[in-house]
Amino acid sequence: MDVVEAIKSRKSIRGYKPDPVPKEVLEEILVTASRAPSGMNTQPWEITVIAGDVLEKIKQANVEKLSSGETPRQEVGRGQYTDQYRERQVALAVQLFQLMGIAREDREKRTEWMKRGFRFFDAPAAIIISIDRSLGEAAEFDVGSISQTIALTALNHGLGTCIQMQGIMYPDVIRKFTGIPDSKRISICLTIGYPDWDFPANKVVSEREPLEKNTTWCGL
Ligand SMILES: Cc1cc2nc3c(=O)[nH]c(=O)nc-3n(C[C@H](O)[C@H](O)[C@H](O)COP(=O)(O)O)c2cc1C
Repeated sequence: MDVVEAIKSRKSIRGYKPDPVPKEVLEEILVTASRAPSGMNTQPWEITVIAGDVLEKIKQANVEKLSSGETPRQEVGRGQYTDQYRERQVALAVQLFQLMGIAREDREKRTEWMKRGFRFFDAPAAIIISIDRSLGEAAEFDVGSISQTIALTALNHGLGTCIQMQGIMYPDVIRKFTGIPDSKRISICLTIGYPDWDFPANKVVSEREPLEKNTTWCGL
């Protein structure tokens, strides 16, 4: 697939067919994606692929924690999203909720939607990326680099992905079922599977700001 076509066609997939992704395909994607650049070629990413029973147990435990009211948290600090950041976040939520037929005041459906995120959107597999806690924030840049590279490579196999935080927001659950030690920061995950194109949320086309909003040209 042409690189520009891949970049333009990639989108977050939040509804999947139940078909499992063969291990060889996941392996091929990860080998290709390992060509992603990293600072000084340190390749700090540590990859954990989850599927089958383990994924099921994590999904169940995540939803139990969410339903019990335990506050989800992420190991990579995200600060406060205010002003234009909050506006963009809300714009996405409005689009998704419209497509999914979730009214603003419908708490039940909103909770169901949230649970879906904590269930990795019911994808047949997920890829967790963690890095050693001794590494500073710069290494998270490398995590971003491999995440997008995995997402783009997956397209070549007819697979969809969503770079996703919700699934790993009960890090203790992830550690319990995967064995990722405390010495590693669980940075991000990607859900991965064959897209269900009939799933309404997959029709979302997220917005982007025009260049004038975020680009300064100096000397040209
Ligand atoms: C670091 C990161 C974390 C994300 N976490 C979530 C998440 O927890 N749940 C979700 O539905 N989407 C999540 N997303 C997907 C974004 O919402 C999505 O990338 C953005 O809206 C742009 O849409 P697109 O990916 O379809 O182009 C995340 C994306 C990134 C890069």
